[in-house]
Amino acid sequence: KKVVLAYSGGLDTSIILKWLQVQYGCEVVTFTADLGQGEELEPARKKAEMLGIKPENIFIEDLREEFVRDFVFPMFRANAQYEGLYLLGTSIARPLISKRLVEIAAETGADAVSHGATGKGNDQVRFELSAYALNPEIKVIAPWREWDIGSRTKLLEFAEAHQIPIAKDKRGEAPFSVDANLLHTSSEGKVLEDPAQEAPDYVYQRTVHPEDAPDEPEYIEIEFEKGDAVGINGERLSPATILTQLNEYGRKHGIGRLDLVEGRFVGMKSRGIYETPGGTILLDAHRGIESITMDRMAIHLKDELMPRYAELIYNGFWYSPEREMLQALIDKSQEYVTGTVRMKLYKGLARTVARWSEYSLYSEKQVTFEEDMGAYDQTDAQGFIALNGLRLRLLADRKRKHG
Ligand code: ARG
Ligand code: SIN
Repeated sequence: KKVVLAYSGGLDTSIILKWLQVQYGCEVVTFTADLGQGEELEPARKKAEMLGIKPENIFIEDLREEFVRDFVFPMFRANAQYEGLYLLGTSIARPLISKRLVEIAAETGADAVSHGATGKGNDQVRFELSAYALNPEIKVIAPWREWDIGSRTKLLEFAEAHQIPIAKDKRGEAPFSVDANLLHTSSEGKVLEDPAQEAPDYVYQRTVHPEDAPDEPEYIEIEFEKGDAVGINGERLSPATILTQLNEYGRKHGIGRLDLVEGRFVGMKSRGIYETPGGTILLDAHRGIESITMDRMAIHLKDELMPRYAELIYNGFWYSPEREMLQALIDKSQEYVTGTVRMKLYKGLARTVARWSEYSLYSEKQVTFEEDMGAYDQTDAQGFIALNGLRLRLLADRKRKHG
C-alpha cells in the first residue's frame, strides 16, 4: 500500500506521516508545495528523509505561478467574497493541492492520498471532494478523523515515542492554527475562539497596523487584460510576481485585515482573522476597471451570481459542473475588461481614484452637466419615464380608490 501525503514539514503532518507508516504499514510519498506561504521547503525534505521517506518518494514543488494564474485570478474575475467579506484564500488553494496529490498518486502507483485537516472543518471537504472529482477510485486517509491522538499531550507523546523532533516553541500549546499562501494568511482557534474578544495584535503576521502605516498615501497603477492583472506601474509581470508585489504594498499600508465569524460548510460557525493584503488591493482595482469596461446589466447579473460562485469555492466544489458553468459566464464577461486603474493606498485602505481604457463605455459626452453636445436628447427621457411610470400610476390610482 502506498499513500501520498500533503506534507508541510511541520509537527502535525510529521506525526501523520509516522502514523501512516506504523498504523497502516503504508509506504509514504510526501508532497510539499510552495504556494507562497513564505517558508523554506528544503527543511521539509530533510525531515521527510529523516522519517524514512525514500528520496524518490519526496515531491517538492513551486506552484506559485500555477496557483495565481489558474486559481486565484479566475476567482478574482468574479470578485468572489464569501459572506460578503472573505476572499477565500484557503478555499482556493485546496483544489490545487488535491490535484497534485492525485497526479502524484498516479505517477508513483499510490492508491491513496492523505491530508492533515481535522474532521470539524471545511478543508477536509475541499481536499476530498477535489480528489474524488479527479479520480473516482482514489482512497482518502484522514488521520484526524481516525486516530485517538486527540490532545496536544498525546500528540507530543507520540512524537517523542517515534523520534520526531519537536521545536522548542512547539512544546507548549500552539497559540492558534495558521494557514498561509500567496493570497492570504488565516488564523483560527485557541485565543481567537471567543468572538466577543478582540484578537490580540500578535495574531497579525503580514500587515502593519493601519495606525502605524505611513502618513503619506502611495499611488500605484495596475494594468488589466481581460480581467486579469498583467502589470504594475507600467511593468509587465507574471501573475505570482504581481500578487507578491501587491502583498508588499498592502503589508506596508496595513491593507486587507479582516476579523470574521463565518458559517462553515459542516454546520458550525467559526471565527477567523484574515490578512489578504494584495488580494484586497486587487479586488478594488478589478471592480474599478470593470466599472468603465463592462455593461451595467452584465455587471449586475455577475454580481447576483457571485455569492453562489463564492459559496461553491468555499464548500469545495471547484471541480464541479456548476462552478465551471459559472466560470464560463464570468470569463465571457471579461472580454473587454482591459485598461489601467490608479489606486491610492493609505492607512488600511486601497481605493480606485482613476481608471481608463480603450474599451471604456464611459461617455463624457453623454453624461456631462455642461451644455449638451448632441449625443443625448433630453426630451427622449420624457417618454421613457412616462411608460415606466404607467403601471405605478395605475397602482396608485387603485390604492386611492380602494385603499
Ligand atoms: N476558515 C477558513 C476557510 O475555511 C480558513 C481555514 C483554514 N485556516 C486555518 N487557520 N487552519 O477557508
Ligand atoms: C481544519 O479543521 O483542519 C482547519 C479549519 C477548516 O478546515 O475549516
